Amino acid sequence: MPLRSPGLLLLLLGSLSAEIQQTEVRAKVGSDCLLSCMYPERLDFDLDDVYVYWQISESNTVVTYHIPKNNSSGQADSRYQGRAHLSLDSVRQGDFSLHLRNVTLQDAQRFTCLVFRKSLSMREVLRAVVSLRVAANFSMPVVSRLVASAPHQDQALTFTCTSTDGYPRPNVYWINKTDHSLLDRALHNDTVSLNARGLYDMISVLTVPWAPGLSVGCCVENMLLQQNLTSSGPAEPSTGGNAGRITETPALPPGQRGTAVLGIVAVLVVVVLVAVAITWARCGHRSYTGARPVTHEQELTDHA
Ligand SMILES: *[C@@H]1O[C@H](CO)[C@@H](O)[C@H](O)[C@H]1NC(C)=O
Ligand SMILES: *[C@@H]1O[C@H](CO)[C@@H](O)[C@H](O)[C@H]1NC(C)=O
Ligand SMILES: *[C@@H]1O[C@H](CO)[C@@H](O)[C@H](O)[C@H]1NC(C)=O
Ligand SMILES: *[C@@H]1O[C@H](CO)[C@@H](O)[C@H](O)[C@H]1NC(C)=O
Ligand SMILES: *[C@@H]1O[C@H](CO)[C@@H](O)[C@H](O)[C@H]1NC(C)=O
Ligand SMILES: *[C@@H]1O[C@H](CO)[C@@H](O)[C@H](O)[C@H]1NC(C)=O
Ligand SMILES: *[C@@H]1O[C@H](CO)[C@@H](O)[C@H](O)[C@H]1NC(C)=O
Repeated sequence: MPLRSPGLLLLLLGSLSAEIQQTEVRAKVGSDCLLSCMYPERLDFDLDDVYVYWQISESNTVVTYHIPKNNSSGQADSRYQGRAHLSLDSVRQGDFSLHLRNVTLQDAQRFTCLVFRKSLSMREVLRAVVSLRVAANFSMPVVSRLVASAPHQDQALTFTCTSTDGYPRPNVYWINKTDHSLLDRALHNDTVSLNARGLYDMISVLTVPWAPGLSVGCCVENMLLQQNLTSSGPAEPSTGGNAGRITETPALPPGQRGTAVLGIVAVLVVVVLVAVAITWARCGHRSYTGARPVTHEQELTDHA
């Protein structure tokens, strides 16, 4: 997009100024992209006459370059070695675009393309600035229900929604699948964290009152990709169809299930011990007979 007034255009024709283009490019982590830098008119360039530099605008880090009779790119920053290329065939036709492979989050920068011609006393004939915005696709959200047993009325239902490895920071919505409305934000707690790869992981915990036929969905929005990923939770009995990726409870990772079971066993042991102690204290030594354990078991099921 040329940012110039007719006055500047005259200056260019008077061979004082260069064309300035500014564009924005969006790319996904790991993908390849093309940062455009094109001479606005049809003109052939001589590889022995033209100097092309691509650098990061703020730091002047060299990304790649073309210098006549110098096919080395030894001065380029190590982060771009082997990832940044100019096509010399394109350069001859006035297309100085940068091919960048395997985009990383650190590539989210403003890049400047500079073109000079030796035959014009090293005059700058083209300058372009390209802002690269980098995004990463979130994983499909996975919805789980935390309460395993058949829930009763007056009981709250808790759902979790997880999605990982996205960028930038997501927006999280929960959807009432009955009328496709958004659930109140106050009903969910969203925790977003940066992982070791610099990408965002998200977990949202939704707590809603139990209702027959309750059906919810979780939506993760990536603003940069203009993308919403939506999954449905397990529906409450009385509505059948539930779509999307569903994980029935428990929602704990496999490694933690054992610990959870151990925890439940520990709680049960404590309950039994307390029950025994209470009975012991209430009845004294004399009434401890074989009949007692049955009572304890009943107390146990009542508590569980
Ligand atoms: C190529 O250009 C680089 C950077 O200006 C310079 O260090 C190197 O010596 C040049 N090589 C040749 C063969 O001219
Ligand atoms: C690159 O330059 C080296 C010497 O600097 C030369 O041997 C080689 O043929 C050149 N390669 C190309 C593709 O021009
Ligand atoms: C892309 O870059 C990452 C590190 O940034 C590296 O682990 C991966 O192997 C690269 N992939 C390719 C296809 O070069
Ligand atoms: C993003 O990821 C989701 C889930 O992995 C996939 O369904 C979707 O097609 C991806 N979108 C793009 C644009 O790659
Ligand atoms: C979902 O929508 C239905 C229909 O509008 C409504 O009766 C129900 O209360 C809503 N559920 C929640 C949890 O908001
Ligand atoms: C969200 O989490 C905070 C801290 O863990 C807690 O105080 C708050 O009650 C939670 N809110 C909801 C709606 O669960
Ligand atoms: C994603 O969903 C939210 C909430 O429903 C909505 O505001 C937004 O416009 C949606 N974005 C896209 C790209 O569909």
